[in-house]
Amino acid sequence: MIKAIEEAVAFVRSRTRIQPQAGVVLGSGLGSVVDAVEVETEIPYAEIPGGKAATVWGHQGKMILGRVGKLPVVLLGGRMHYYEGYDMQEVMLLARVIGRLGIKKLIVTNAAGGVNTSFKPGDLMLISDHINFSGVNPLRGPNLEELGVRFPDLSDAYPESLRDLARDVGRGLKQKLREGVYLFLSGPTYETPAEIRAFRTLGADAVGMSTVPEVVAMAHMNIPVLGISCITNMAAGVLKQKLTHQEVMDTTARVQNEFTALVVGILQRF
Ligand code: HPA
Repeated sequence: MIKAIEEAVAFVRSRTRIQPQAGVVLGSGLGSVVDAVEVETEIPYAEIPGGKAATVWGHQGKMILGRVGKLPVVLLGGRMHYYEGYDMQEVMLLARVIGRLGIKKLIVTNAAGGVNTSFKPGDLMLISDHINFSGVNPLRGPNLEELGVRFPDLSDAYPESLRDLARDVGRGLKQKLREGVYLFLSGPTYETPAEIRAFRTLGADAVGMSTVPEVVAMAHMNIPVLGISCITNMAAGVLKQKLTHQEVMDTTARVQNEFTALVVGILQRF
């Protein structure tokens, strides 16, 4: 596995001179951050050894290397999801690749359902912690010693210092940022109303089908993460309406500018 990762890293290095210091994973419908980047290189995932074409509507499926101001950055425009049938090694691959490219911090973003009833669709939530409710640990299997230890500590996967910085940037933009716990499920179904009630009792504020595998891969590699969820809809049973991917896409489209300003503002402060 480490060979596959190093092969992908070597391929990316052969295609760009950028040595990224920060990374961003862009979730469903949240791709417009790319417009704020001075792009040097774009690599479709399908060209990266081991990369796959991202298949979900709203995902671009390419790695973008460039600069935000002076900061060299790498963006993952779209991700592989566990619900698509990829195994966890595949889901974590590109995060690990950008980790090996040398990023010092990662911003992960996603679309999520609001479990906390004080949230509203369109809210942006800083992830303070997560609950992995998928039934799988992404690091199950032989440990890749080159990347990190067998039993990684997750107690500071989302360091408070990064959330403080994000809040400060949010204040400057007059954005009211939420903060809470993201609960990860494999999907692809949305949850039942009973599940959402149970998750609320467990301490979840938002629910989604991504992000945790990448965060665990980063914790393994000792790379700090800032997580931002766009609350695209209220989770099942909160409102008397059906959940659709269309609502998810409509909400991300609506908050696109606000979201981009926040992410770019944070990158400028890194
Ligand atoms: N549940 C799970 N994943 C999601 C949701 C949701 O309500 N909204 C966006 N991604």
